[in-house]
Amino acid sequence: MALLGVVVRALIVAAAAAVASGSGLPVPGYDGLAVGFYRKTCPQAEELVLAEMREIVAEDRTLGPALLRFMLHDCFVRGCDASIMLISRNQTGERDAVPSYSLRGYEQIERIKSRLEEACPMTVSCADIIVMAARDAVYLSKGPRYPVETGRRDGKVSCDMDANNDLPPPGSNIVDLKIYFSVKNLGWKDLVVLSGSHTIGRAQCGSFAGDRLYNYSGQGKQDPSLNATYAPELRKACVAGDPKDETFVEMDPGSPYTFDLSYYREVYSNKGLFVSDQALLADKWTRDYVARMASAYSTDEYFRDYAEAMTNMGRLEVLTGDNGEIRKVCSAYVD
Ligand code: HEM
Repeated sequence: MALLGVVVRALIVAAAAAVASGSGLPVPGYDGLAVGFYRKTCPQAEELVLAEMREIVAEDRTLGPALLRFMLHDCFVRGCDASIMLISRNQTGERDAVPSYSLRGYEQIERIKSRLEEACPMTVSCADIIVMAARDAVYLSKGPRYPVETGRRDGKVSCDMDANNDLPPPGSNIVDLKIYFSVKNLGWKDLVVLSGSHTIGRAQCGSFAGDRLYNYSGQGKQDPSLNATYAPELRKACVAGDPKDETFVEMDPGSPYTFDLSYYREVYSNKGLFVSDQALLADKWTRDYVARMASAYSTDEYFRDYAEAMTNMGRLEVLTGDNGEIRKVCSAYVD
């Protein structure tokens, strides 16, 4: 049902054009964003976020990938407006939606926010903090430190159904994935480049074992495309196809905390963890990209593409200018 709603909206925004162009249609409405938006009002903002992120990741390295994923969950649902942070009030919010079940990073965003409140009260939005934290999570795992646009403001609406509808599930095939992305004006290139975020971090067995190991397409068997040597390793970790199994598996087992090209090498050898990772081989354009990155000697091209795709995602449905608000605490707005 959720996907049906997405499909209808996809048609409305001329999905086909976005998919064909690779980098999608121009994302509208981000005019108020600028690199260095806080240069005058809070010049130390970006350095403070980085300093806090260094401490956070030093205390618990699993929080880096968690905070990168956090940006996807904010930006894909009602845009990059920090609505993921709001604690449910009158209606169930995004935080309590099914796809947010294993999402972490709420306290860390709040922690960065309070450091910024000490330095520059009521100036830096939670939405920008989420985007800066994601950038620094990439950088602290040896990825690029690309310039980020800032100037977003925070929204006051958060609804679980939006998260249920707009976030692609890990069992998505390539057609579904391209629709989920094109609804957001993102193209096949954004899809294949941003999926490379799965070069860091981990997933719970419950997120993938049913689809890939035990009940592929509801047929009670293993996904035939899964690498034959990798499958038994995964079965050892995820002993039953229990959708509530919280056992963690690293998504890029050789280098789970290094932002590199090994995700593409894994996917190319049928060792992608999710159906959605593997699905990148099912389309000519995304497959060619995976193949090129899998055999690339340098990360230069990928890092450039990643900066561009993250910038595109960071522009989704942003509130700027007089829209939205800057609040003191990210998890609650004042009526
Ligand atoms: C293309 C569609 C995508 C799907 C279907 C997908 C799905 C998922 C799922 C199911 C998990 C594991 C959740 C768990 O079991 O705890 C995950 C983890 C993760 N995702 Fe994605 N994701 C997608 C795209 C993205 C994008 C665009 C980004 C970032 C820009 C991203 C970043 C991450 C990261 C870093 C993790 C690891 C989180 C951790 O270690 O805590 N993903 N993703």
